Formats: sequence, C-alpha cells, structure tokens
Amino acid sequence: MSIYNIAVIAGDGIGPEVLQEGIKVLNTIAELDGSLHFEYTYFPWGCEYYSQHGVMMDEDGVERLKDFDAIFLGAVGFPGVPDHISLWDLLLKIRKSFDQYINIRPIKLIKGAPCPLKDVNREDIDMLFIRENSEGEYAGAGDWLFKGQANEVVLQTGVFSRKGTERVIRYAFETARKAGKSLTSISKGNALNYSMVFWDQVFEEVAKEFPDVQTASYLVDAAAMLMISDPKRFEVVVTSNLFGDILTDLGAALAGGIGLAAGANINPERNFPSMFEPIHGSAPDIAGKGLANPLAAIWSASQLLDFIGHEKYGQLVLDAIEGLLLEGEVLTPDMKGAASTAEVGDRVSKIVSSLM
Ligand code: NAI
Ligand code: MG
Repeated sequence: MSIYNIAVIAGDGIGPEVLQEGIKVLNTIAELDGSLHFEYTYFPWGCEYYSQHGVMMDEDGVERLKDFDAIFLGAVGFPGVPDHISLWDLLLKIRKSFDQYINIRPIKLIKGAPCPLKDVNREDIDMLFIRENSEGEYAGAGDWLFKGQANEVVLQTGVFSRKGTERVIRYAFETARKAGKSLTSISKGNALNYSMVFWDQVFEEVAKEFPDVQTASYLVDAAAMLMISDPKRFEVVVTSNLFGDILTDLGAALAGGIGLAAGANINPERNFPSMFEPIHGSAPDIAGKGLANPLAAIWSASQLLDFIGHEKYGQLVLDAIEGLLLEGEVLTPDMKGAASTAEVGDRVSKIVSSLM
C-alpha cells in the first residue's frame, strides 16, 4: 500500500469548495485502485485565520509542512486583508521556503472546452508553460523612499541569478526533450537591458547542451500577440515570473477559462514538498454559493498524481474532465451550466470510476 500524506490548505472564499471536489476525485481513484491511499491534514490558514490571529499562517508553518508528500492549495485572499499580505505571507512564503522554483501551467484546449478564438484547431492550443517561480520580478527586492513626500521614489528590482536562471531553463529543455517538443523562450531583451539580455544569453548557453531540441525566442509583447494569432507555435515555453504570470492568464482564457486552469509549484529535487493549486483566486463574489467551478482544482489533482508517479491516473482524470465537458450536462454557471460545485465533482468521480 502506498500512502501519500497531503497537506491541505483550503484557504479563503471558494478555495475550500473547489478543493473538496479535487479530494473527492483523488479518493475515488484511491478506493478503486486499492493499493494507494491519501491521508489529508488540514491547515486552517488564510485570511480568516489572519483576521483572528494576525498572521496568515502559524510561525512554525513552514516547518510543519516540510515533511508532506505534497501540498494541495485552494486560494487565498479576501476583502479586508491587503492582497500583498495574503500573497506574500502564505503563498509566496511557501513557494520560496520550499524552493518551488518551477511553476508548470498546462494550456491545453481539451475537447469540449470553450475557446474564444474562431477557426482554431483544438490540437493547436497545447502549450506547457514553465514559469520561473522563485526570483525575477517577484523577488521582493526594492525600496520605498521619501514616502508621501514630493520626492517620493519607489524601486522594484528584478533579481536574476545565474543559478536561478540556468536551472529553470535547463528544466524546460529537459521537459521539451522528454516530450519531443520545441522550446520557446519569452523575454524582453530590447527594453530590459540587463536582466533579459542575461536571460537570452543563458538560454543560448544551455541550448548548446540540447542540440536535439528545436528552439525559438520571442519578445514578450510579440509572444502575447502570437499566442492569439498563431498559438500552435508554442509547445514547451519557458519564461520569467512576471511574464509567465500574465501570459498564463491569457493562456487560461484560450483554453477554456479560469475555471479550468491549473498550476503546479514544483521543487524538482524533491527536497521539499511541491504544491498544487488552481490558478484562480478566492472569487469572493461567488463564494459559499456552490457556484464555483471545481475543474481547475480537479486538474491540479491530476498534476499531483503525475508528480507522485501515477501519470496513468493523472491522464485518466484529464480524460474524465474531457468526458464531462463533452457530455455538456453537468457544468457550473461559468460554463453556461446549472450544476453546483459538488455535482460537478460527483460527475467527474463517476466518469473516473467508469474509466478505471
Ligand atoms: P479570482 O480568480 O478570484 O476571480 C476572478 C473572476 O473569475 C471572478 O468573477 C470570479 O467569480 C471568477 N472565478 C474565479 N474562479 C472561478 C471558479 N473556479 N469558478 C467560477 N468562477 C470563477 O480573481 P480576483 O477577483 O482578482 O481575486 C480575488 C481574490 O483572490 C483576491 O484577494 C486575490 O488576491 C486572490 N487571488 C488568489 C490567488 C491564489 O490564491 N493563488 C490567485 C489570484 C487571486
Ligand atoms: Mg496570476
């Protein structure tokens, strides 16, 4: 029996509602397989916790998480707590403490998913974004001088270390090689004359180790345009923290919307747990009403299965999501359906059972 210890940080708003459905699907697989088991430990951290205790997570939170096999996270953020606090004191703290320097976001237009582009072949939208997740524009380096005065100055510095840049680019090359796909680097060397010139240089250096991988390199503004006008150019993509954040939201819109988009924060060396989450936020506008689409959380559960070595089940969950979309009957309101969050989770679990 393989037992996996999962830390669950359901968080705020719709976080707990959607995670529950992800867990439902994981448990369905575990029950039917019989040889694997998930053990969940729930941590009550988030904005509600902050309003009661003055902290987003306990002082020893990182220490308590470090021995889990994976972290499953819903969403954090709620009106009343400034977003930079909820983000920095929980999500970014975990990503940084556990050196989750790879953020993987699949942008794949599965069958049945809505796409705003006309005349596009479904197969042409199949990208794997690998976003730098530990430094860059989100390093938190900067200063705020002469606050409130006429000569006020704010600095936000991008931090691109050789180690940090090389490792994400090398990981992306390895991923592309394994998948037999091309690798595209997205940067902005014309305007960001230090950081992105360096990024481009490292990309060219590492490329020499992977002569079998076909490469392309675009400026971020051109890439944004091409993702719409010619999405099939992009297969595996590597980019910086900020550019990846923005472009993967654009990608989410191409591949079925925010209700479907998942992301994994990976520590490839497995020295620390990796974290799996839907990329949407806590959606306070629809929280507590059973309206939230759980498919993004379920897709992240599929990424979790991939990561712990059960790729067969990871694929099966994706097939089940595809099956649900093709049926088109049990969908939440964001996908023009009338089903509740739990009904979608139930249906996906049913389809999973039928595929096993
Ligand atoms: P959001 O993703 O929470 O919501 C944007 C829009 O999409 C809303 O209209 C919402 O109802 C809808 N939406 C989001 N997820 C949905 C789902 N699963 N099903 C159906 N509709 C869905 O982004 P917003 O409004 O900018 O942020 C709300 C809060 O979430 C903020 O406090 C923000 O800081 C936080 N946030 C947290 C993230 C995280 O924990 N990873 C990521 C993004 C935002
Ligand atoms: Mg984002």
